[in-house]
Amino acid sequence: MSRARQIIPYKAKVVEPIALLPYEERVRRIEACGNNLFRLASQDVYIDLLTDSGTGALSAAQLGRMMIGDEAYAGSRSFFEMERQIRETMGYRYTIPVHQGRAAERVLDFVLIKKHMIVPGNSHFDTTKAHIEFAGGRAIDCTIDAGRSSTGYHPFKGDVDLAKLESVIREYGPRHVAYILMTVTCNSGGGQPVSMENIREVRRIADQYGLLVILDAARFAENAWFIKHREPGYATKTIHEIVAEMCSYTDAAIMSAKKDALVPMGGFIAVRDDLLYERLKAPTILFEGYYTYGGMSGADMEALAQGLRDVTEEPYLTYRIGQVKRFGELLMAAGIPLVEPLGGHAVFIDARRFFSHVPEDEFPAQLLCVELYKEGGVRAVEVGSVLIGRDPDTGENIRPNLDLCRITIPRRVYTMEHLEYVADVVRTVFEEKGQRMRHGLRFEVEAPGIRHFASTFRYVRGADGGTGDLP
Ligand code: F0G
Repeated sequence: MSRARQIIPYKAKVVEPIALLPYEERVRRIEACGNNLFRLASQDVYIDLLTDSGTGALSAAQLGRMMIGDEAYAGSRSFFEMERQIRETMGYRYTIPVHQGRAAERVLDFVLIKKHMIVPGNSHFDTTKAHIEFAGGRAIDCTIDAGRSSTGYHPFKGDVDLAKLESVIREYGPRHVAYILMTVTCNSGGGQPVSMENIREVRRIADQYGLLVILDAARFAENAWFIKHREPGYATKTIHEIVAEMCSYTDAAIMSAKKDALVPMGGFIAVRDDLLYERLKAPTILFEGYYTYGGMSGADMEALAQGLRDVTEEPYLTYRIGQVKRFGELLMAAGIPLVEPLGGHAVFIDARRFFSHVPEDEFPAQLLCVELYKEGGVRAVEVGSVLIGRDPDTGENIRPNLDLCRITIPRRVYTMEHLEYVADVVRTVFEEKGQRMRHGLRFEVEAPGIRHFASTFRYVRGADGGTGDLP
């Protein structure tokens, strides 16, 4: 019998050149960008691990389908193909295309949220939370306690704490619950999955109180893979069966198709109920476009339909999640403090432990992103104090539970050799600076509102005017 080996279920057919700028040039460019990696031009980046959103490689089958995209304004053939595929993969009867995930949030919340309503759920993504608030509601995070810690093993750190969910529903009263949101997998929580049992139990509670359950399905296929491999009773089920069961417990899904539908741009709201579908049409027309295109081109809708077929292939998922795991294990072997267990789409470095002498107010995770770029032209993203911002009432900086540097792996783009290079860059920064740096960054210009994208930073100098390094 032959041995089980790592199988890569695709090969490159089209490639894009990338290049590493010299060290001095990298330092100059990141300084010119105010030490904010969002401000860098992508051509100045060697390996871009800012996000897994819209950055995946298209398959030949997707490109082929794009050629036959129907660009009709209303009733496009490509829309019906996308709707048919979503029904086949996820089981929802109706689909409304939108240009990306946050557009789905906006349309749905416009319809479902009235002032002072709440949306309990697990680790709402930041745009999701912001849209709930924009519509006059409040997001209440009911993730289990284990999901709030970067250490300790739990197979489903994305699970909802059912007792907390019920007590929140009782406290506010079911009339004030707009819907329950299930995010699979939890991006903000470190890419952690949610178990089938938990989704089923949330459905049971929702039925008891007459509430809707909405799935944030951005990484639904990755979540299904974790269920298959971690949850008793699912090992022999196919990904298709698991996805169908996950969705069967929910009333609707909002989807950023830029993740697990493998398209550069797109999204949708998929629903079971005729009435809800009818109510979603008018705001879609207002904010996005006619409800059979909603901001997507026919070519994109074809690519999305094919992307749903590609992403639910088991060999694809096994390689995808295995690659993230092997990369994470390289870092752990070098002693880099990571959020554990490893998630599906990214590796999260715990920057407070990485730079244990840098004060928490001096943005250790942002500092780490800057240092990784300088060391190796790698672009990661801060998911910590800079992102979370200030308390709208007090104006104080919020100090999040974790200050993380997210190294996000695009789908089907980089080889293990690319990631070995990145691991080496992280290791070098850890060995040379991890214990030496005493200071981090401070704002030069703090952008108002969503400060993550446009703010600029300066290095905090040591009291002696030096770089802040220990001698
Ligand atoms: N929900 C989740 C769980 C997400 O991770 C994102 C986006 C969205 C909704 C919003 O979708 O970007 O298409 O509007 N996450 C990206 C990221 C931006 O880098 O993690 P979008």
